[in-house]
Amino acid sequence: SKGNHRHYMLKEIYEQPVVVAQTLKSYLQRMEDRVSLPVPDFDLSAIRRVTIVACGTSFYAGMVAKYWFEQFARVPVDIDVASEFRYRAPVMEDEGLMIVISQSGETADTLAALRHARVEGQKIAAVVNVPTSSMAREADLLLPTHAGPEIGVASTKAFTCQLAVLAAFAANLARAKGRLDEKAEKELVRHLAEAPAALNAALAYDESIESMAHLVAGARDVLYLGRGPDYPLALEGALKLKEISYIHAEGYAAGEMKHGPIALIDDQVPVIVLAPSGPLFEKTVSNMQEVQARGGKVVLISDYDGVAAAGEGCIATITMPKVHPLIAPMVYAVPVQLLAYHVAVAKGTDVDQPRNLAKSVTVE
Ligand code: F6R
Repeated sequence: SKGNHRHYMLKEIYEQPVVVAQTLKSYLQRMEDRVSLPVPDFDLSAIRRVTIVACGTSFYAGMVAKYWFEQFARVPVDIDVASEFRYRAPVMEDEGLMIVISQSGETADTLAALRHARVEGQKIAAVVNVPTSSMAREADLLLPTHAGPEIGVASTKAFTCQLAVLAAFAANLARAKGRLDEKAEKELVRHLAEAPAALNAALAYDESIESMAHLVAGARDVLYLGRGPDYPLALEGALKLKEISYIHAEGYAAGEMKHGPIALIDDQVPVIVLAPSGPLFEKTVSNMQEVQARGGKVVLISDYDGVAAAGEGCIATITMPKVHPLIAPMVYAVPVQLLAYHVAVAKGTDVDQPRNLAKSVTVE
């Protein structure tokens, strides 16, 4: 049931602190602050290449994970949407691992990619939310998300749980490959373990996000900008807004603006900038200022320090808790979900059943 919530989507957004904690609990061993994953029946340390395949929101979780696998495990990562992957001639060498990511575990293109990779001799890991699904059954290594049933067509809690699993998996692979010493592993686990409380703190901004939804609800086009692991969050924010409010939205890598899309900027196009404090903050802010210099109306999503440093001149700011960059993609999912939700409610669309969309896409 929806409980006290007006829509399943809102209920599921609010479940995130609990379901992410639930998911982390099965992948982290807090007594010693180690990651603890199911042991596969193949040799993880031999894996030389990772191929991630998924669709939609699950694909964006994979994009975030690419940063982690490269950074922690130093393994090359190839990533593609499933509907493209299948129809190119992907080079899959021995000692390759395919990771499929899917809430339903039934998405036809992703399942076909899994089967293709199997024929090509890849090991298969599946990050899925439905434990009885086809992908769960066919994988060599099942890494379930414990988000519980997701009813709203727009994916929310499955996404943050996917990120939790993928971060733990990246750490696990790094350890298996001798790239993560005990001290670094403990630190990583402690940062990950902060995610549920940080998600909770992010939810506290619901009302302030609701009160600024009108700034976006009247727009015809909206841009979302981010960098590094928060670039996929810009894509996710744009997808959420498109799906449920039917407003045209695009996500861009902030640094790509000047290579074309900045031509779109005028005072009619709200630009949502995701810029948590961290190594990419300054660069993102300078891209944001290029937008402002052309009359663009910016909504800055950052933490207190970021908003204090760069919030001036924005039409609105959304202040997130200050978190370690590792968990920023999880935390920043909340404001982009809530913004899309409140804009859709303001427009009066059917939030849980957007037009033309199905929860599980079982056609190719
Ligand atoms: C977005 C959304 C879709 C799904 C995509 C993949 O809100 O719900 O983009 O993420 O259809 O579905 P799964 O994860 O079930 O493979």
